[in-house]
Amino acid sequence: MGEEFGELVYIRAHNMLIINNTQVAVELLEKRARTYSDRPGTPLMEITGISNLLSVMRYSPRWRRHRKLFQQNFRQAAVHRYLPAQYSKIHGYLHNLFATPEDFMAHTMDLSQRIIYSSLYSLDIGPEDPLPRKSVEVLHSVGKFLVTGTFPLVDRLPWLIYFPSWFPGCGFKAEAEACRSIFHEVDTIPYDKAVANMKDGLGTSLIAELAAKSEGVPEEIDAIKSMGTVSFLAAADTTMSSISSFLLSMCLNPEVQRKGQKEIDRVVGTHRIPTLEDRRSLPYVEAIYREVLRLHPPVPLGVSHNSIEDDIFRNYLIPKGCEVVPNIWAMNRDPNVYYEPDKFIPDRFLVAKEGPFGSINSIRAFGFGRRVCPGRYMAENTVWLTIASVLATLTLGKPKDENGNEIDIPGEFTDVFFRHPKPFQCSITPRTPSAKDLVVNSALRKE
Ligand code: HEM
Repeated sequence: MGEEFGELVYIRAHNMLIINNTQVAVELLEKRARTYSDRPGTPLMEITGISNLLSVMRYSPRWRRHRKLFQQNFRQAAVHRYLPAQYSKIHGYLHNLFATPEDFMAHTMDLSQRIIYSSLYSLDIGPEDPLPRKSVEVLHSVGKFLVTGTFPLVDRLPWLIYFPSWFPGCGFKAEAEACRSIFHEVDTIPYDKAVANMKDGLGTSLIAELAAKSEGVPEEIDAIKSMGTVSFLAAADTTMSSISSFLLSMCLNPEVQRKGQKEIDRVVGTHRIPTLEDRRSLPYVEAIYREVLRLHPPVPLGVSHNSIEDDIFRNYLIPKGCEVVPNIWAMNRDPNVYYEPDKFIPDRFLVAKEGPFGSINSIRAFGFGRRVCPGRYMAENTVWLTIASVLATLTLGKPKDENGNEIDIPGEFTDVFFRHPKPFQCSITPRTPSAKDLVVNSALRKE
């Protein structure tokens, strides 16, 4: 549609505007942020309970309170607090890749989830615990409820939400109610555990410390609890998506992988795993990170913003209550900005005017304006560190059949709200015998 109709596509039946161009997105969502920072907020979301989450909350004083707390704890200067958990879990991840490389997708999901539970709640929650599975269920429901058109009948006949779930055509309600009950568990269990651990002298955590400071102030407790839940829900699939897109890209682009590995060998050496202090000295690794988020944005249609008043843009009337969809996918593949936009070419960032270390605000995968991802500094540390650590210690490639011939990887992606590679097979081997020792030793040191 973008190719046919251009930068702006308006769908009257849904009062929905799709933005296919970065400059237009900046004009509307950033420069006119006062008008375009609301979220759609539907009665169905109220039933699921997810409208209590910062990411779907209406633009309101409550959103401001929640967002402020989030910024205080996730701004650039604050995220170093999470580094010990990030290093420890990433080194554990490498260890798992060495031990059972065939389970790399499960290890990647596990990494993305553990980092959040550990950073916020100081809880070591692995895949054997039912909590991550329940959280993923909520997450998938959130994805569905956020996309206009998933439940077309209720879009057309909104009063159906007042009917019982057994009424013909009201199956969506049962789904929303099921989501509500799991959401309650996901919201409560880790918070209660973290608070109990601190009270019982079993260890402190960010969430428990914040809760202790705000005892007796229910609206603050509400924001703290919600910060933990939304962090998990917003971080798990997006982080997992970026890391698995990176793994897939390395299998499909061996030349890029070799170049990244060589840079690390030259700058860091082979006697240690890279750290964030190395980042500025590794322009090619940076370019790989940026290219992963350009070509494979985990949330390709962003999260819709809503307008709170009528607006005129380039002589078009954008009516109040318009759902504005930032089509990050199209922006990141704009042929006027990126040559050969469908190809994985990290070098494009080396020759770009601002070089590979441009501002984080130029990474469109994190969204726009006042609703831009507040977890982006933490996300960036996790994804960059994982990319650099994997490149330093492992080699990825296409799998081989029994005759030693390479098997092609189709390189397919899901087409849901949170986009990620479909399960694929690949070969993951230690780069050198010493790489294996390095990983084993660092994983042991962290325990
Ligand atoms: C690679 C990883 C990530 C990507 C690509 C990503 C992307 C996004 C995008 C596109 C949005 C919507 C922005 C908009 O409305 O314009 C968003 C919002 C959000 N993200 Fe992230 N995110 C990532 C990781 C994280 C992490 C690690 C956290 C928390 C620890 C987080 C927390 C949030 C929250 C709370 C919002 C809602 C903000 C609001 O509505 O005010 N994200 N993210």
